[in-house]
Amino acid sequence: MADKLIIFDTTLRDGEQSPGASMTKDEKLRIARQLERLKVDVIEAGFAASSNGDFEAVQAIAHAIRESVICSLSRANDRDISRAAEALKGAQRARIHTFIATSPLHMEKKLRMTPDQVLEQSRQSVRFARNLCDDIEFSPEDGYRSDMDFLCRVLETVITEGATTINVPDTVGYAVPELYGDFIRTLRERIPNSDKAVWSVHCHNDLGMAVANSLAGVKIGGARQVECTINGLGERAGNCSLEEVVMAVKTRRDYFGLDVGIDTRHIVAASRMVSQTTGFVVQPNKAVVGANAFAHASGIHQDGVLKARDTYEIMRAEDVGWSANKIVLGKLSGRNAFKQRLQELGVALDSEADVNSAFAKFKELADRKSEIFDEDILALVSDESVTHDKEQYAFVSLSQHSETGERPHAAIVFTVDGKEVSSESDGNGPVDASLKAIESHVKSGAEMVLYSVNAISGSTESQGEVTVRLQNSGRVVNGVGADPDIIVASAKAYLSALNKLQSKADRVAAQG
Ligand code: KIV
Ligand code: ZN
Repeated sequence: MADKLIIFDTTLRDGEQSPGASMTKDEKLRIARQLERLKVDVIEAGFAASSNGDFEAVQAIAHAIRESVICSLSRANDRDISRAAEALKGAQRARIHTFIATSPLHMEKKLRMTPDQVLEQSRQSVRFARNLCDDIEFSPEDGYRSDMDFLCRVLETVITEGATTINVPDTVGYAVPELYGDFIRTLRERIPNSDKAVWSVHCHNDLGMAVANSLAGVKIGGARQVECTINGLGERAGNCSLEEVVMAVKTRRDYFGLDVGIDTRHIVAASRMVSQTTGFVVQPNKAVVGANAFAHASGIHQDGVLKARDTYEIMRAEDVGWSANKIVLGKLSGRNAFKQRLQELGVALDSEADVNSAFAKFKELADRKSEIFDEDILALVSDESVTHDKEQYAFVSLSQHSETGERPHAAIVFTVDGKEVSSESDGNGPVDASLKAIESHVKSGAEMVLYSVNAISGSTESQGEVTVRLQNSGRVVNGVGADPDIIVASAKAYLSALNKLQSKADRVAAQG
């Protein structure tokens, strides 16, 4: 029988650490449900000790998800570990993932600890964690740049203390495939009790090699767990991408000889959900989930695919969920059909009032747009006015005038803490005028570092989805807004970003 490759998804923890990708508890819960539908083996739900928000998100996910193991990250200290254990109470299967840096650079400059102190803290932490939970993962942060002899001592020690998974991060994305594979193999060969733990790879994508390095860790090094994120989301250049690593192992089973439990038909929906939630748009030529991943533009390719699909296709689009892009609801669909579709999409609204509010928005949209796709529904429920989140700013209405040769003008009405305000402005274009109208009232002083528009379902009839990234006092946030009118979508995205700037999301960074 082939070995199983464990898929550990860290979209909600390492992915969320990406500046601007922070998610609310409800958003995380929705993504966790989609990850469960994907049959992800382990979901890293957050870093419970980093903030109250993260604690609550881990707790909510631990209660809601029954199939996947739910994991919380924690630094290697008793307080963090206790917080993780507490947040995980109620989980069907829980894992505590504790980490401490082991590279000379991190120990000396960041931790200001000697190697002996790091070794002792690793031992104590895993011993402490093991008393609270049976499933313990240990990561030597910046493991790949650590001294081999020292790393062997640390890892042998934590396995003796009961760590059940050993994860070897390439924290800064410095590795190359062959060397990383050899590194894992050497660790496994040199550590006498290495067979008592599952070995795991965790690669960052700074040199674009996260997937290749992870696969080398599996093939050459013998790792049996891969840590990854949907769309490769993550800090800097991101993490190893789940969809790529899973499809590589499935498509090249002849080479890897491993089983993967993922239900790949839910991959595209997961990718869209993460991209719509975070505002991190997927590039069209991204493997597996990019809009062009299965599109054949050249005549020769089209001809070949029509004659025999496998001339140019090594995977079937429908196997990763592309065929799911169909009209799901229309103007005449009732509340029950809408509610059922929400359930199928893994969206659990908190109350009947939220369902009613979402249904009213759906009806409004269906009046303006004849075909409603899953993406439209997901965009609609991401709208803060539907969920119960108490937001400071909410869109009400907008009118704008633009004519060739004249300077565009916009007048907007929005609410501030429930009270309606109106504001007007000129601008270089109608979007600029609308956002300036908001800013002239709010005076956030935030700098816009990104503005992007995307058609949710492909045609000019589709909703425009706008992402606005704002930066203020060192914080970076993304706001997303959707509407068939892209100027309204832009105003909604701007207000959503302002709401996120307002929320006090102070948290401890995992690699801080
Ligand atoms: O990249 C890294 O080192 C991490 C650890 C905290 C596991 O994400
Ligand atoms: Zn990481």
